Amino acid sequence: MCGIVGYIGRRDAVPVLLEGLRSLEYRGYDSAGLAVIHRNRLQVIKTAGRVQDLRDRVGDRTKATIGIGHTRWATHGEPNETNAHPHTDTEGRIAVVHNGIIENAEQLRDALGAKGVKLVSDTDTEALAHMIAAEAAGDTPLEEAVRATLRHVEGTYGLVVLDTRHPGELVVARNGSPIVLGIGESEMFVASDVAALVRYTKQVVYLDDAEVATVHAADYRVVPLDGSGRRAAGDSKVPTTVEAEAGDYELGAYEDFMRKEIHEQPEALRRALRGRLDDRFATAKLGGINLDARELRSIRRVKFLGCGSAYYAGQMGAVLVEELARIPSDAEPASEFRYRNPVVDPDTLYVAVSQSGETLDTLMAVQELRRKGGQVIGAVNVVGSAIGRECGRGVFLHAGPEVAVASTKALTNMAASFAMLALLLGRVRDLSAASGQRIVAGLRALPGQIDQILAHEDLVAEVAGRFADAEHMFFIGRVRGWPVAREGAQKLKEVSYVHAEAYQAAELKHGPLALINSSMPSLVIVPADELLSKNISTIEQIRARGGPVIAVTSAELPPYLADAVIRVPAGEPELDPLLLNVPLQLLAYHVAAKLGRDIDKPRNLAKSVTVE
Ligand code: F6R
Repeated sequence: MCGIVGYIGRRDAVPVLLEGLRSLEYRGYDSAGLAVIHRNRLQVIKTAGRVQDLRDRVGDRTKATIGIGHTRWATHGEPNETNAHPHTDTEGRIAVVHNGIIENAEQLRDALGAKGVKLVSDTDTEALAHMIAAEAAGDTPLEEAVRATLRHVEGTYGLVVLDTRHPGELVVARNGSPIVLGIGESEMFVASDVAALVRYTKQVVYLDDAEVATVHAADYRVVPLDGSGRRAAGDSKVPTTVEAEAGDYELGAYEDFMRKEIHEQPEALRRALRGRLDDRFATAKLGGINLDARELRSIRRVKFLGCGSAYYAGQMGAVLVEELARIPSDAEPASEFRYRNPVVDPDTLYVAVSQSGETLDTLMAVQELRRKGGQVIGAVNVVGSAIGRECGRGVFLHAGPEVAVASTKALTNMAASFAMLALLLGRVRDLSAASGQRIVAGLRALPGQIDQILAHEDLVAEVAGRFADAEHMFFIGRVRGWPVAREGAQKLKEVSYVHAEAYQAAELKHGPLALINSSMPSLVIVPADELLSKNISTIEQIRARGGPVIAVTSAELPPYLADAVIRVPAGEPELDPLLLNVPLQLLAYHVAAKLGRDIDKPRNLAKSVTVE
């Protein structure tokens, strides 16, 4: 994922830009660059290397109080210095940094070529710089030139524009790619992610799609891109306060963010539960979903929508809702939902699940639902994100910033939030006070139980060491264990690149059992529940065919049943998935570490997928 930073104020802009780019490094990139206005001229410095290379290249030769910076992940054109951002017009007057993809870039570039403009890079972004320069002729305000340019642009963008004729302002625009303004004391910051600005300010303004903003050191103005319904200057968007701290984006004593975030789970979970458990009525309090008891009772179905791990968390949620509330429930990848012209049912509660709150497929699913009158709530981690704003109501996950690409603590908080939603729905229906009390106590015990699992990390690391050479692995689970198995396989694949497949236990005998042999280990999820004996017999079937087995369990298993057993504390059976999932995160982490993978930035993956 590309990263954007911008600064205008009294400080030396270059260190602010470099520090901002450094804090966005975790998102992955292949080149970096910055542009500042120095003595009314544009200075652009770029590198096909790391932010540190850019820092070395800049040295202390550049002083300015306004500038923009970018880390690029190549989409149009290979990762080299010419294609790195910022891009400029021919005269070197306008500089642009851009995230997203311009879909009609080819036509725009051809049209510029036909007018005699010589493009020097292979990027879609460079076309924007030339087009803005052409529109900004004479006294035209920069914002107007940007707006006029974007009328011809199809695709997604978060962009920041610098103009030497307007050295006291930055113009930014958003459509499908996040942009946030950081509001300081006579200084302003712009970024694609709050990570780049929390060290300077906690007051932020998130741009919505189709908005453009003009930012000066002392004020800003956000207006709709099409120019209609222009907001008055004093009536611009009001800043919100971000929860994140600069330390959330630092590794501290850890080697990777993934391991740091795995270990943050007990604390993150305590935050998610705080103030939301109601002992008196044995239920949960989720004020943000804004549904009273009558509305909760009228819900006939619950459908969770998310992508990747957020979808698997939704599957955990669906199992919880069916168990505790006895309401039909399922989960579907938002990416499928948005494309299949779904029947939107007014009696269904749709839950949009997303850590980043920016995943385009999930956002599109929410927009489709809203268009068709569906009731949708968000389960989102990043406050102020696009999905959170689009839903307008829901449950914030309070996991804190998740920096590693692999989702860990956010997923745990998603599942815990769904347990609370299921409890709330159950308690206005058939769930007894005694059962509600049991779940409340079970939820309260979870952080301490996860602490216990983490205290035995060395055992999981030892098992990981024994199985790290496997080329393939099966993850087997049924009912409560099934989403856990899917998530475990996903985690192993994405961080270690070991091929992993999840199967429902009973499906094994309908085909995949043919693959079982001594070089195909299976990790079997064995909750201490009414299906224990079934899961034990699954393990026996696998072992009878020579397949090595790792059992991850909350039960007491017969000795020698499996080649390795990873125990988690026994809790309330409905909540077992939250505990059983944690060793799978550790296992994926330690296999990846053993194989020397770049754990926080797996190949080909980005933190949130905001472009098609
Ligand atoms: C896996 C992972 C991804 C995300 C998915 C959705 O570890 O991180 O599968 O879960 O891309 O992202 P969000 O939750 O930000 O919508």
